[in-house]
Formats: sequence, structure tokens, C-alpha cells
Amino acid sequence: MLSVRGLSAGYGGLMAIRSVDLEVNAGEWLALLGPVGAGKSTLLGVLAGLVAARQGEIRLDGEDIRQLPPHRRLRRGIALVPEGRRLFAGMTVRENLMAGTHALADPAMRRRNLERVCELFPVLAERGRQVAGTLSGGEQQMCAIGRALMASPRLLIVDEVTLGLAPMVVESLFAALAELHRQGMTLLTVEQNVPLVLAHADRGCVLSGGAIVLEGPAGILRDDPDLPRHFIG
Ligand SMILES: Nc1ncnc2c1ncn2[C@@H]1O[C@H](COP(=O)(O)OP(=O)(O)OP(=O)(O)O)[C@@H](O)[C@H]1O
Ligand SMILES: [Mg+2]
Repeated sequence: MLSVRGLSAGYGGLMAIRSVDLEVNAGEWLALLGPVGAGKSTLLGVLAGLVAARQGEIRLDGEDIRQLPPHRRLRRGIALVPEGRRLFAGMTVRENLMAGTHALADPAMRRRNLERVCELFPVLAERGRQVAGTLSGGEQQMCAIGRALMASPRLLIVDEVTLGLAPMVVESLFAALAELHRQGMTLLTVEQNVPLVLAHADRGCVLSGGAIVLEGPAGILRDDPDLPRHFIG
């Protein structure tokens, strides 16, 4: 579905990702791993169109999308749940969710998506009128995922969904992602909890110093003796 070749990006004099090759197949869950500062969020940002690529190609279903702005990539099915959630804190849960549908013209589709999101996260239906900034951390994360789902994505990209959350909340968020995966959603997730994500994902790849250093099926990567080395220092 998504094919990335020789992708580089950075900030000023800093190259944050260097010559990254990446494939995400339709229906699979790919876990992007790597230490702090490895360039994971930068890579996701480049895929979503929020960070400019300096080199390389990004193809969605074979078509080069590198020049497309974020809203047009969203319309083609790439939705990002950004690091730190980035909800509209002063708006209600429902308003946040509806903000995710701006790429959709069809009101029936909006209603259907709202139903599906509320099915996946019933608490969002209960809290529809609550101001998003007053939700718990876990509820905010659900709202951020829900907002991304409102755009009918085919590829859901999620950056550090579990950051700072209690184990039980982490578990329920992963259960929701697993349910989406079961329904056929293609997932690309960045996650610090390596054992947790490799227990769910189909495949993993490790980004370190802006480059992919290791990749493979989740079950094999989990036991790779080289894996821990990439997270130290
Ligand atoms: N907006 C920015 N301006 C300048 N440098 C940046 C910016 N965003 C990220 N960087 C730098 O780019 C490098 C990669 O950062 P990035 O956020 O992509 O890493 P990450 O793998 O997501 O890290 P973390 O696990 O901490 O979220 C880091 O050295 C970081 O300081
Ligand atoms: Mg990050």
C-alpha cells in the first residue's frame, strides 16, 4: 500500500532520517521501533505530509504523493494520530471527532464513522459534550484515535499512543488497535513498549540514528539478540 524509497528529511542542518526504505502492506500492522530521538516522529510526519522530505519517494498504491499537502494525503487515506494527541482542548469530544471529517463530503459517511468510533470507544459517546481538555489521558488518546478514524483512513499512523498512561489504559488502547487490525485496517505504529507492540504487530522495523537498522516479522524480531542493543545509549 505504502512504499517509501530513499527518504531523507531534517531540520536545518540536522538530518533526522536518512535514506529510509519502508513498505507497508495492505492489512498489516507494522511497528516502528527505536530509541529516543531516532527520527520516528519525523518519519511519520513526512509520511503524513507535515514534515517536508528532502529526498526520496513516497508512493501510495503506486502513486507518488510526496508533493501532496497533508489534507490531500488524508483524503487518500493516510491519517496520523500525532505524538501528544494534539486535540482541540477547548472543544468538546464530539467537536473534536467531527473536526476529523473535514475531508469527507458525505454526511451519511460522517454519521457512520461516528457510530463506528463510538462503538470502538463507548466512553467517547458518553463524554460527547465534555470539553476534550478535561478528559483523562487515556480518554484523550481515544479521542485522538477516534478523530483520525473519522476521516475513513485506510492507513492509520499512530505515534506513541501509550505514553504516560497506566497499564490498564494501555491495554484497552491496544485492544482497540487490535480490533481495528482485525477489521482490516492497515496500521503503522510507533511504540516504546517493544514487547507489547511486537505481541500485536505483524512486522517490525527499528529506526536508529535516522536509519532503518533492523527489520523482520514481529515473532522473529522479538527474539533477535541484536534488538536490545539498538535501544541502549
Ligand atoms: N521541529 C524540530 N526542529 C528541530 N529539530 C527537530 C524537530 N523535531 C525533531 N527534531 C530533532 O530530530 C531528531 C529526531 O526527532 P524525532 O522527534 O523524529 O525522534 P523520535 O524518534 O520520534 O523520538 P522520541 O522517541 O523521543 O519521540 C531529534 O534529534 C530531534 O531533536
Ligand atoms: Mg517521537
